[in-house]
Amino acid sequence: MAKFQRHVFVCINERERDDPRGDCGSKGGQAVAEEFKKQVHAAGLKRVVRPNKAGCLDQCAQGCTVVVYPEQVWYGGVTPADVAEIVQAHLLGGRPVERLVIPEAELTGKLP
Ligand code: FES
Repeated sequence: MAKFQRHVFVCINERERDDPRGDCGSKGGQAVAEEFKKQVHAAGLKRVVRPNKAGCLDQCAQGCTVVVYPEQVWYGGVTPADVAEIVQAHLLGGRPVERLVIPEAELTGKLP
């Protein structure tokens, strides 16, 4: 079994259209996930970075939401057009794409 250096979780969750929480599926989650798979392979990172489709990551208002582990970098409003930059700058270069990083104060799931 491969031991990946990073996992990229892409929310593809879908809800009913009238659900006030919204969802990442309606904001292009599937296309973002597919683009990560394509770009990670193209960058030669297939054996070290694993893109994974994910259910709700509890940052619904920020969708399409992506989180990179182990460094816990959360991206919001990600579109397929942003993926190549994330792969090049972050996954290859180690520098998160700051313009897409969700500010710490806006993240849910913090300890009190
Ligand atoms: S629906 Fe994507 S984070 Fe909740």
